[in-house]
Amino acid sequence: MSPDQIAVLGAGNMGTALAQVIASNGHHVRAWSIETDVLEEMRDHRGNTRYLAGVALHPGIEPVWDCAAAVAGAALVIVSVPSQVVGPLARDISPLIKRGQVVLNVAKGLEAGTHLRLSQVLERELGKAFGKRAGSMGGPAIAIEMARGVPMAVIIGLADRDCSLRVQRILQNEHLKVETTADVCGVELCATLKNVYAMALGVCDGLGYGTNTKAFLATLALAEMREISLALGGERDTVYGLAGVGDLLTTGYSEHSRNRTLGEKLGSGGDWRHFLRNNTVEGVGACRAVKELIAGKGLRAHLLETLYEVLFAERPAPEALRHFFREFSYG
Ligand SMILES: NC(=O)c1ccc[n+]([C@@H]2O[C@H](COP(=O)([O-])OP(=O)(O)OC[C@H]3O[C@@H](n4cnc5c(N)ncnc54)[C@H](O)[C@@H]3O)[C@@H](O)[C@H]2O)c1
Repeated sequence: MSPDQIAVLGAGNMGTALAQVIASNGHHVRAWSIETDVLEEMRDHRGNTRYLAGVALHPGIEPVWDCAAAVAGAALVIVSVPSQVVGPLARDISPLIKRGQVVLNVAKGLEAGTHLRLSQVLERELGKAFGKRAGSMGGPAIAIEMARGVPMAVIIGLADRDCSLRVQRILQNEHLKVETTADVCGVELCATLKNVYAMALGVCDGLGYGTNTKAFLATLALAEMREISLALGGERDTVYGLAGVGDLLTTGYSEHSRNRTLGEKLGSGGDWRHFLRNNTVEGVGACRAVKELIAGKGLRAHLLETLYEVLFAERPAPEALRHFFREFSYG
């Protein structure tokens, strides 16, 4: 296999983990970040302690200070920034991206205000030619576990078959299985929704409920994910695959998940706003965006709406969850 040139834009948790995987697969990775101190540490100490402590970076990862230099000649451009940054970053790189390149978003959320899925945001900024060449990664992928090379699997939602096979060839190895699907909509909706429901599962942890309650709530969450996703154009198989149930389980149960941790703080009365200010927690914005999106379509999602009231209407989480169980789950 001949090595490819890959650009990773954003050297946070996921960007650095993906760079590590791709470089260890024999490709040359140019990693760009706005955080110059992160790039300096990558260059001088072959590490990224802010985002991926304890991982010795592969020599095939080259930190670059100039975004244009990262993108130039890359077979694959990975966008690994918070969802609200995908639009502005795509606008910035739009003059640099060439038709032959594939763009893969790994952020999980919707654009605030427009409620667009992130491949739609990429298409809007990069042009119609990228309607089929821009996609998203979904599935259970906690960055630190990925960087450690434990067996795991992700799913790539990309409309163009050749492009998704290219991404699969670049990412897949003996530890990481890469599935592909043309259901970009379903992958992106599941990626958005699972963060919301992972917060609800975290509330269970914070309230000290046991595994019975959590499994009950996860089952209800999956049913809501299915209803919302199908109503908005996703496919059933995607919900019951890696992007849906797979990612819901890992995000709702992992100690590394920031969405679950924020929910735990909601449940236990911890300072969740402080945690939100200092961490990328996509579920909060996703909850608002999905609530607005489904309201406009006349859909109801009682668990998601309950969480919305806790996050945005100061409703205490213990009372809200008890009310949800009483009113909506025994109907
Ligand atoms: N961490 C994970 O395990 C994981 C797994 C799968 C998907 N994701 C998704 O990937 C996305 C990024 O998550 P993360 O965990 O890597 O976040 P992170 O906070 O660790 O990293 C975010 C990166 O975005 C960069 N960034 C922030 N604002 C920017 C701006 N205005 N312009 C340019 N760059 C900017 C930061 O410098 C950093 O490199 C999220 O949507 C998340 O849901 C994360």
